[in-house]
Amino acid sequence: MYKIAVLPGDGIGPEVVREGLKVLTAVSSKTDFKMDVETYDFGGERYLKTGEILPDSALDEFRQMDAIYLGAVGHPDVAPGILEKGILLKLRFGLDQYINLRPIKLYPGISTPLKDKGPSDIDFVVVRENTEGLYLGVGGFVKKDTPDEIAVQEMVNTRKGVERCIRYAFEYTKARNKKKKLTLCDKANVLTYAHDLWRRTFAEVGKEYPDVEKDHAFVDATCMWMVKNPEWFDVIVTCNMFGDIITDLGAIIQGGMGIAAGGNINPKGVSMFEPIHGSAPKYTGKNVINPMAAICAAQMMLEHLGEKKASNIVEEAIIKVLASGKMKDLSTRSGLSTSEIGDLVVSYLK
Ligand code: IPM
Ligand code: MN
Repeated sequence: MYKIAVLPGDGIGPEVVREGLKVLTAVSSKTDFKMDVETYDFGGERYLKTGEILPDSALDEFRQMDAIYLGAVGHPDVAPGILEKGILLKLRFGLDQYINLRPIKLYPGISTPLKDKGPSDIDFVVVRENTEGLYLGVGGFVKKDTPDEIAVQEMVNTRKGVERCIRYAFEYTKARNKKKKLTLCDKANVLTYAHDLWRRTFAEVGKEYPDVEKDHAFVDATCMWMVKNPEWFDVIVTCNMFGDIITDLGAIIQGGMGIAAGGNINPKGVSMFEPIHGSAPKYTGKNVINPMAAICAAQMMLEHLGEKKASNIVEEAIIKVLASGKMKDLSTRSGLSTSEIGDLVVSYLK
């Protein structure tokens, strides 16, 4: 019996999470996967009502869970940064979820904006460092609101943080067993300290993985290759900020935010799974948002928990739904409602 903390969050978060849970409940009636769900209402509404964002006591509770399933954070009446830092980043940092794993996979039946590219070309994984870099928030203002203002935000890279991320990426590439190629995406030509550390660590750790091909690409070139030759990639490892940016590009080439999911992984602790789209406030409560990304996140959670059978059943259902042509696209104009899409996935569970 897995204990799952569910944080539906803001905007359309609750609607897509509802469909993900519908699929998980249905698959648990067909397999040995059993879950016990605890729902938490952290998010913009609670913050506006009570001033509470995410107390430390909640983190302690989450540490006792087997996984966390998150919808979305971000509220139009709350200044940018408060909920993102106070909930999402607090969870990632506080639970030491040092990997953000983002598969970029184009499923058959889904169209990509890339000309002449298909599912066999777009199938790679981004391993994004998730606890350091520009996200740590080290810095500050001097002479704020004057013409001489200085704003500094440091890019923090620790040997430990970089090494554990790179090691995870090598292990992941080996286990994935596709092209066995790991690309380090950096900007070592300009960030000659920060990304020199990444280069040296990559070379050193790489010696332990003689069967994995090592490859380098600067982040700007990575963006170009992801569009021009996505088939070159197998696994990409990169820092927090670059990983954030290239995975939005990745989401678009795999069919859009309607399908992109990610896992915030602590290999020895509690991991969290989420659709990577935001809270899309204007669609809140309308039952029009496509929940496929949240359903894909649920599938990643099953896989991470080692529930191979349940995970395969859900992935096969996702593939069949996408190939069925019953959903025109992955946007709000799919021709189906949020709940109808959840029902459709459930109907394909074998
Ligand atoms: C993501 C999001 C977050 C990030 C924001 C909401 C803080 O864009 O998960 O990619 O930048 O990591
Ligand atoms: Mn992002």
